[in-house]
Amino acid sequence: MPRSSQGVLLPPLANSHPRRADVYLALRDAVLQGTLARGERMPSSRKAATDYGVSRGLMEEVYAQLVDEGLLERVVGRGTFIAERAVKRTDPAVNGKAPQRVSSISTRGLKLAGNLACRFTHEFKPFNAGVADTTAFPWQIWQRIQARAVRDLRRADMNFTDPRGLPALRQSLAHHLAQLRGVRCVPEQVIIFNSIQQASYLLALLLTNPGDAAWVEDPGYPGTRAALELAGAAIVHVPVDRQGLQVEEGLRRAPHARLACVTPSHQFPCGFAMSAERRIALLEWAQKHEAWILEDDYDGEFGHARQPATPLHSLDQHARVLYLGTLSKSMFVSLRLAFAVVPEAMVEQLANIRTQLDAFNAPLIQLAMSRFMDEGHFSTHVRHMRNVYAEKAAVLTEGLKPLANHGWTWEKGTAGLQILLRHPNARQVQRTAEASGLEVHLLNSYRHKPADDDGLLLRFGGLSIPAIHLGVERLVSVAKSNGGS
Ligand SMILES: Cc1ncc(COP(=O)(O)O)c(C=O)c1O
Repeated sequence: MPRSSQGVLLPPLANSHPRRADVYLALRDAVLQGTLARGERMPSSRKAATDYGVSRGLMEEVYAQLVDEGLLERVVGRGTFIAERAVKRTDPAVNGKAPQRVSSISTRGLKLAGNLACRFTHEFKPFNAGVADTTAFPWQIWQRIQARAVRDLRRADMNFTDPRGLPALRQSLAHHLAQLRGVRCVPEQVIIFNSIQQASYLLALLLTNPGDAAWVEDPGYPGTRAALELAGAAIVHVPVDRQGLQVEEGLRRAPHARLACVTPSHQFPCGFAMSAERRIALLEWAQKHEAWILEDDYDGEFGHARQPATPLHSLDQHARVLYLGTLSKSMFVSLRLAFAVVPEAMVEQLANIRTQLDAFNAPLIQLAMSRFMDEGHFSTHVRHMRNVYAEKAAVLTEGLKPLANHGWTWEKGTAGLQILLRHPNARQVQRTAEASGLEVHLLNSYRHKPADDDGLLLRFGGLSIPAIHLGVERLVSVAKSNGGS
């Protein structure tokens, strides 16, 4: 900005009849961006008012505000100057090239914001893709059903809708759960959420006081841990073996826990189904202590190649099991539809809490989902995808065979969308694999504390068969040269 004896030239205004806000924003931005350089003298308020065609009083007010904000400085007897400490143009924070630093946030906020365990991946590669295979999804049918849902959505549904979920979808889910998962319930017990994580958070708010103990599987799903922590529960890490959560150990560490969060059909990330013995022990503990079991059945439709494991919910005689399901794996993850099956009275309580957070799920997508189920497309799709994932698992395990002689082990007969490969030297292999374009997560990264029996979680659901072939070939070669024998 050129100098003048009467002070710097002022930046032009977009509005020919400027209001106070136009003048203020133009000057503020010019200072922040460095167009008005630090230390320069501003024209007097009288001169500036004349140049801008505004009243002197307005100009005085704007100068006063900029002084208050530290962008201008008044020097008695000399005039008004652009403050030496005003940010200059080269500061990337002002240019928008770097994120602005946020100061004065809480200790809790800092801790939560530092937890990156739940950040999702944008780029899928072998083997970070534990998502549904969307190339096999019947898009045309879905598009048609969605278009019909838009047309048929009633005006009433354009206002607040039921926080328990659209009645039609609750009905469809109750029917689907009985058919595909053997979970018996009435639609009044079903409540719709965006995700299992959201359901876990709200259930933890309802069922625990701050600081109450909650058992989680170790190793386990980071989303569950995060949801419980957000709700203020005290996490108790209970070790898992091939029979599932070690109930005895939970009893030793925190017998009076209010909650136990488990993945009994397909333990995440180890892949086993919980044994009958442990199921009974867990149910007995919950009944005796009037505690709750959150059963996360995230991939129950696909968990095992032969026959999906029976949900814990169907063994429960005392209504202690709260069943959580999601459509993230059986449909696609961006659908953001999940559900819980709980006692009817608890549906009301959860709905009341939900209204204090984000009220309800969008009705349009719920209506489309309900029709997709009622017209039989969902069960057809799930049956088809069972074969797709079983074939992918077969390609992967076939490709892994050369590692069997090198001390690597994996569970036979599981399918789902991931397989755990075990080896004590997994960390070294992971590092080298990443350098050759793979992304594999360590079993230890799902543990509370690292242990000796490490492993690599291979998440293959969203990968094509050629990508699995290529990935497993590279992995085997890296593991053979690094993994020892
Ligand atoms: C154990 C477990 N629970 C839940 C989910 C995700 O469910 P949602 O997307 O509904 O939160 C996943 C996803 O990988 C999972 O592994």
